[in-house]
Amino acid sequence: FFANIQELPPDPLFGLKARYNADSRADKVDLGIGAYRDNNGKPWILPAVKQAEQKLINSEGYNHEYLSISGYEPFLKESAKVILGEDSVAIKQNKIVSQQSLSGTGALHLAGAFLKNFYTGSNEGKVYLSKPTWANHNQIFTSLGLKVDSYPYWDNDNKSLDLKGFLNSIKQAPNGSIFLLHACAHNPTGLDPTKDQWVQILNEISQKNHVILFDSAYQGFASGDLEKDAFAIRSAINNDKIKTPIVICQSFAKNVGMYGERVGAVHIINNEDNYETINRAIKSQLNKLIRSEVSNPPAYGAKIVATVLSDAKLRSQWDQDLTTMSSRIIKMRNHLKQLLIELKTPGNWDHITNQTGMFSFTGLTPEMVSRLEEKHGVYLVSSGRASVAGLNEHNVEKVAKAFDEVVRF
Ligand code: LMR
Repeated sequence: FFANIQELPPDPLFGLKARYNADSRADKVDLGIGAYRDNNGKPWILPAVKQAEQKLINSEGYNHEYLSISGYEPFLKESAKVILGEDSVAIKQNKIVSQQSLSGTGALHLAGAFLKNFYTGSNEGKVYLSKPTWANHNQIFTSLGLKVDSYPYWDNDNKSLDLKGFLNSIKQAPNGSIFLLHACAHNPTGLDPTKDQWVQILNEISQKNHVILFDSAYQGFASGDLEKDAFAIRSAINNDKIKTPIVICQSFAKNVGMYGERVGAVHIINNEDNYETINRAIKSQLNKLIRSEVSNPPAYGAKIVATVLSDAKLRSQWDQDLTTMSSRIIKMRNHLKQLLIELKTPGNWDHITNQTGMFSFTGLTPEMVSRLEEKHGVYLVSSGRASVAGLNEHNVEKVAKAFDEVVRF
């Protein structure tokens, strides 16, 4: 019955995590999956989340009933405000349709399914992904039957953005293509366009009527500032030249530390003249997709995030928590670079501190990465991406020495 089925290799990220877990070396270091760790290498429950949990559980009427198919309404309202801003015109004018999803991956899957079924703005409806991009992007879209292509992003020689290649790709793609953009803290390179570069990118996109699909998984992680990290999204929405819909896939896995609770949303900002009628239709179709896939979204995490976002005290605690996480990561970037300089490790390591967010694209080759794992028990993705959140004051020296050894080997 399954004569043609083939066993696939383990997932690059979760396979790496399984190998790390199976390693018995006491001083092993996990720089693999993007999950924040504290200075002792332990998972961190944000104080804002702890307080929100207490508030939620003690509140009257707390229960485990089903949510509506769209999700938890206070969460949808607050999550849209976080990404678009308190004074967002799109929200005031009701131009936005929001649907709760199973975190960022569920949001991308839902957005992909929606576009595959209903997007009529181009014959091909190809999704363009940055090269490189998050390991899961490709298969999320291809498994839905969408075609994918790539646009140049990382200039390996200069460890910088290949802006020329990126803009050229936008120009060359058939009108109305779908461009997936990382809203901030690009995964895996940790390299974001500057504000000026974003303006150029968005203008070029507007000329070709491409649809923007934003993947926003790290708002607040790149700079510690939610407003700053929403720059690209808000610039796109406020750009009068962009008439096409804008789709935002929003995850709260990292910035609220709700990894396993799967809290996220899809927001579609529709700029068509008769947007009110179309938005009702969009909502009904998103509801149908959700109902057929998961019935209705999970409640617990969404209630916690909504509590954090809607309570002024918890909201300011969350701001502090974002600063705690982003500043520890920045400190670790500086520390690692400093140690590599002291060790006189061949090469230039400025990119470690120029990059932003959870990841550093170290420039280490797959062979070096493999030696790091086997000889030193330091785990990172074969592309050379290191989750800087896995570094701490107790292991950074070991990691720097291990990098040094594999570079010289
Ligand atoms: C990562 O890139 O490490 C994270 O986004 C975790 C994941 O689901 O892949």
